[in-house]
Amino acid sequence: MFKFGFAKSATDANEEDNDKKDELEWIPASKLEITSEQIGAKYETDYYTETKMFPDYNLKLIRCDKVVKDLTKYNCQNIIEAETQHSDLIPAKYEGGLKIWECTFDLGQYILEEQIELKDKLVMDLGCGAGLIGLIALLKSSTVHFQDYNAEVLRSVTIPNILLNFNDRANILTKCEFYAGDWASLTTLFDDDENRKYDYIFTSETIYNPDNHKKLYEIFKRRLKINGFGFIAGKTYYFGVGGGMRQFENLVSKDGCFDVKSVWRSQDGVNREILKLTRKPH
Ligand SMILES: C[S@@+](CC[C@H](N)C(=O)[O-])C[C@H]1O[C@@H](n2cnc3c(N)ncnc32)[C@H](O)[C@@H]1O
Repeated sequence: MFKFGFAKSATDANEEDNDKKDELEWIPASKLEITSEQIGAKYETDYYTETKMFPDYNLKLIRCDKVVKDLTKYNCQNIIEAETQHSDLIPAKYEGGLKIWECTFDLGQYILEEQIELKDKLVMDLGCGAGLIGLIALLKSSTVHFQDYNAEVLRSVTIPNILLNFNDRANILTKCEFYAGDWASLTTLFDDDENRKYDYIFTSETIYNPDNHKKLYEIFKRRLKINGFGFIAGKTYYFGVGGGMRQFENLVSKDGCFDVKSVWRSQDGVNREILKLTRKPH
């Protein structure tokens, strides 16, 4: 059975968690600027592994153990706290972006098998973590905006993964943007730019916390082009945390702006699926 690695068992922590929910302070969204020093970074070969992540895609990926060591060295409290508690995430502090989650493979595989047209598109990898989905889009000539709750994940995992795999470093700043912080304020951060609309918004393993469904959905609602598509990959149900596909699907259906369809389901292991959102005609 899939269960999130919370520090305390979810049942024990339930009542305490309910009280704490309201007190959570979400980090406001902001654009992360990358420096020329970061763009010029070189990585020792023992700092990354090269793996066939998807058919035809051998990717060099930064090693998570090395990153955690560095973050500890640089005193990144949120991640250290999660590591010390052997926890996959700590709500509103660290949201799990350091490791690569199962549904990323489902979504990546789906994009490639369905031959989704990504040339010259504007794509958002929402809750990107290591950024594999955005990386596929980038390598297929999209412009990609990567978003992760934790700026340290973007800096120490997402950006290095792009640098290790995208050879056109001179163009990284025109082809990629990076956003950290909470989804709720990401929608307002973009308020100055009403024209910012995406051809595709992809997201994987981001629906585990039902308290975040509304803010996640608002990004699709406000930022997908009229003829754009949203894809949500995730487990059918997240034991111990409470979120799941049906809940998210109901929220979308009730709002009435999108047609929502389950386009892929796993045949084995933990139940996983992919939802596709398409805007309804006005
Ligand atoms: C479990 S990780 C999944 C990472 C990656 N998509 C994957 O499949 O490997 C959840 C992702 O959602 C992001 N996230 C979760 N809650 C968020 C929130 N309230 N605001 C912004 N990002 C959030 C985290 O930063 C993280 O990137």
